[in-house]
Amino acid sequence: MIKGALALLVQGGGENWLPHLWKERFLDVCAGRPIVLLPDEAVDPGEVHYAAVWKPPAGALAAFPHLRAIFNLGAGVDALLADRTLPKVPVVRVSVDDLTKRMTEYVVLHVLMHHRQQLYLWNCQRQGLWEPRAQWAAGAIRVGILGLGTLGLDAASALRRLGFQVAGWSKSPKDIHGVESFHGPDGLEPFLKRTNILVCLLPLTPDTRHVLNRRVFALLDHSSPLGAPVLINAGRGGLQVEADILACLNDGTLGTVTLDVFETEPLPADSPLWHHPGVIITPHNAADTDPEEISRYVARQIARFEAGEALDNVIDLARGY
Ligand code: GLV
Repeated sequence: MIKGALALLVQGGGENWLPHLWKERFLDVCAGRPIVLLPDEAVDPGEVHYAAVWKPPAGALAAFPHLRAIFNLGAGVDALLADRTLPKVPVVRVSVDDLTKRMTEYVVLHVLMHHRQQLYLWNCQRQGLWEPRAQWAAGAIRVGILGLGTLGLDAASALRRLGFQVAGWSKSPKDIHGVESFHGPDGLEPFLKRTNILVCLLPLTPDTRHVLNRRVFALLDHSSPLGAPVLINAGRGGLQVEADILACLNDGTLGTVTLDVFETEPLPADSPLWHHPGVIITPHNAADTDPEEISRYVARQIARFEAGEALDNVIDLARGY
C-alpha cells in the first residue's frame, strides 16, 4: 500500500531550521512514506495526508483536501492557529523531553545569571574592575513561573532543587509538591506580589497577549536582596509590551531582564533593547530542539494514529494551546 505523503514546510531561519535537514530526518524515520518539501509545484495535493510545519505562511495548508493531522514542529502553536484557513484536522504540538530539558536549562541559566549579578560582573570586567558585591543564597529569592504546563513544571522542579522559593501561576488549579500554586485571574495578584524573578512560559492566546505590562511589573516584590525584580520571557514576544519593559527598566520598576522572544522577530536593529545595560537578549533559541527527536516523535504518532490509536498533545482549538 502506498502511504499518504507527509508535507514538510519549515521556515524560521537559523541553523536549526534548514528545510533539507528536516527532510533527511523525516526520510530516515518515516519508513517508506513520501516526504515532500513545500512549496512543491509537482506534488499532487490529494496525496498529502500529514503536514509537519514550522511557521508556514497563512493559507499554505488549505490546498490539501485529504490532510489528516498537522504536526507543529515546536511547542507554541500561536503562529499556526492565526491562519484562518487552517484545515479542520487535529493539530499536534511537540512535547519531547529534549525540548523540555533545553527550556529548563535556559530558565535555570538565566535565573542564575540575574541571581548571581552577572550583568554587573560583566560590566566590571569590561572596565577591568575587581569589585565583588555581596551575594545572597538562592533561598532568599522567590521565583514565580507564569505557566505551569510541561515546561513550567520541569523548570520549577530544577529551580527548587537549587534552593529557590518557587511558585507558579496557571489558568486552572495545580497541586505540585513543593511549589506554591496560584491560579485564575484572582490568583495573579498574590502570585506577583510574592515574586522577585518572574519567568514567563505562557502560550500566546487572545487571553495572554500583552500580559507582561507595566501594571503587572508594578506588582512584583522589591524586598529581596536583588532589589528591583527581574523578568525572564521565553514564551512569545506577543506576551510582552516592550515599551513598558523599557520604561520600567528605566524607572526602576524592573531591575534587569532576559528576553528570548520579541514583538517583531528578528528584533529590529534600532530597538533600544539591544543596547540597554539591564537587558540580556537571546535570538528565540531558548529551546531549539534536536530535529531527530522531533521527527521520531512525529513518526511515532503517525504510526499509532494509523493503527487506530489517539494522537497525543492535540491542541484544544478553543483554548488555543
Ligand atoms: C519555540 O518557540 C517553540 O514553540 O517550540
